[in-house]
Amino acid sequence: MDREIKTSAYGLLAVIIALVLPACASRPQSVGSSGTAWGTGAFRSNGERIYFTATSERGTAITYTSGPASNGWMMGDGQLACASCHGPNGRGGAHNMGMMQTMTAKDIRWSALQSEFDAEKFRLAVTKGQDPDGTQLNTDMPRWNISDDDRADLIAYLKTLP
Ligand code: HEC
Repeated sequence: MDREIKTSAYGLLAVIIALVLPACASRPQSVGSSGTAWGTGAFRSNGERIYFTATSERGTAITYTSGPASNGWMMGDGQLACASCHGPNGRGGAHNMGMMQTMTAKDIRWSALQSEFDAEKFRLAVTKGQDPDGTQLNTDMPRWNISDDDRADLIAYLKTLP
């Protein structure tokens, strides 16, 4: 009887350790001199950094208004970046936002945008939610406050996506 309780207690302890250890290990490293939680030199260009973190090596602020109404998902504690919705490869896709809501973010690789967009139309879409066809983008797409230089870096990065 005693032995059985002990065994199951050790079993439980093993499970807890197995769960806790990887969680600690996978935490991003402490903030490096590049100013992101990813560490120094994690990105090959400022455009890539902006795409993944919504921070710029220039130190200029990148903020947004609007965006998905439900706070439950990814917004958690962090700030959204393009990659949160358009994916690490830029191709977008459907996201489940819980409560049976889904959101479909578009493919924003430059190769996909270029037939409809130029730098100015990109600016209007990203900062004002204006689609080149004259309609307003869904408010799931945040309205971004981003400098001209940072936007140019972002476009340069989107051009590198295969
Ligand atoms: C919270 C999710 C989310 C984030 C973060 C986000 N987007 Fe979007 N974006 C969307 C959705 C959803 C759409 C499609 C809206 C629609 O169909 O009306 C969209 C559409 C776009 C479009 C228009 C594409 C087209 O073909 O019409 C561009 C350009 C775009 N996003 C760029 C960006 C950039 C650049 C960033 C980062 C600075 C970004 N988005 C961050 C959700 C997001």
